[in-house]
Amino acid sequence: MNDFRFLRALRREPVDTTPVWIMRQAGRYLPEYRATRARAGSFLALAKTPELACEVTLQPLARFELDAAILFSDILTVPDAMGLGLHFVEGEGPKFARPLRSAADIARLGVPDPAQDLRYVTDAVSLIRRELGDRAPLIGFAGSPWTLACYMIEGEGSSSYARAKAMMWNDPVSLHRLLDVNARAVAAYLLAQIEAGAQALQVFDTWGGLLAPAAFREFSQRYLHQVAALVKADPRARDVPLILFSKGANGHLEGLAASGCDALGLDWTIGLDEARARVGDRVALQGNLDPATLHASPEAIRSEVQATLASYGRGPGHVFNLGHGITPDIDPAHVAVLVDAVHEYGRGMGNGK
Ligand code: CP3
Repeated sequence: MNDFRFLRALRREPVDTTPVWIMRQAGRYLPEYRATRARAGSFLALAKTPELACEVTLQPLARFELDAAILFSDILTVPDAMGLGLHFVEGEGPKFARPLRSAADIARLGVPDPAQDLRYVTDAVSLIRRELGDRAPLIGFAGSPWTLACYMIEGEGSSSYARAKAMMWNDPVSLHRLLDVNARAVAAYLLAQIEAGAQALQVFDTWGGLLAPAAFREFSQRYLHQVAALVKADPRARDVPLILFSKGANGHLEGLAASGCDALGLDWTIGLDEARARVGDRVALQGNLDPATLHASPEAIRSEVQATLASYGRGPGHVFNLGHGITPDIDPAHVAVLVDAVHEYGRGMGNGK
């Protein structure tokens, strides 16, 4: 099944109405997610048990008319497979037992074999595909080399990633080596997800926007290009669209579109009209409603959806999404309003030119 409107829109082919999915659609705003997570005991146990990962992946699709499922996992599974020892501290987010603190730590790193070290992910992908059937296509994903490096160097989440940034000046050779290993690891991981059944891919460059323009090109964009080149060179990826989501990197849309990717994910700080004028003929665009809009009334959500669709305008190549992940405090009823409004107001928008 290659004819889903989500995959068609990513290929910039005409669609009956605008497809929609939501970043973090399987998450804590859903009571059924919280129940399965409680049964699993922890977030990591949930992500590492294919049957449970499959169950939560499908939960939002049972409630809403979503046009895609996204694998339930985390970007930090890759550094975990590289030996950094991932765990989650309740209320504090991810932490690594062995963060990268020296050139020697980085020199020791190798590319994990996804078939061995990330088998729980590829098993989850195969199971989800079997359970999904023809209901919707499945998105696989990974973190960007730079965003993974931020967590690997810092050892945990941060608002500034000062340690990772300091390495740009204090030991750029080691940082480049780390980013190269991450790029090769991410490409191998994405290809393994395709082999297990993923029908589209998204790379999350959550912290790209922290970088000044020249640093973004050198430390983030260059390695997104490497990932795209490695994935696209593989025959297994021929019919699998690749989406790059570099948050806060609106100054770099042209450079990102030149990677060979099929679509760019956008946060809410740029108009879809402006983004489309800059790159719209080369790639599809995904986004970009401010996630906080889901706190508004149903009427306001509907009018914001309409405005976002109008901002992209007519013609193929738009996948509706939020500009970043949905937050745990959102009422699921508001998500239903959003999804239905996209399909209602999107009718006919993605046809013709
Ligand atoms: O979109 C989806 O539904 C797929 C699942 C998904 C998760 N994480 C599940 C998750 C995806 C695509 C991710 C990617 C991810 N993970 C990113 C990039 C995306 C982005 O938001 O920019 C990042 C930076 C991470 C790292 C990470 N994982 C953090 C910082 C946290 C803590 C967040 C928090 O609010 O506590 C996680 C944990 C995590 N990953 C949760 C979920 C549903 C919450 C864990 C829980 O159940 O307690």
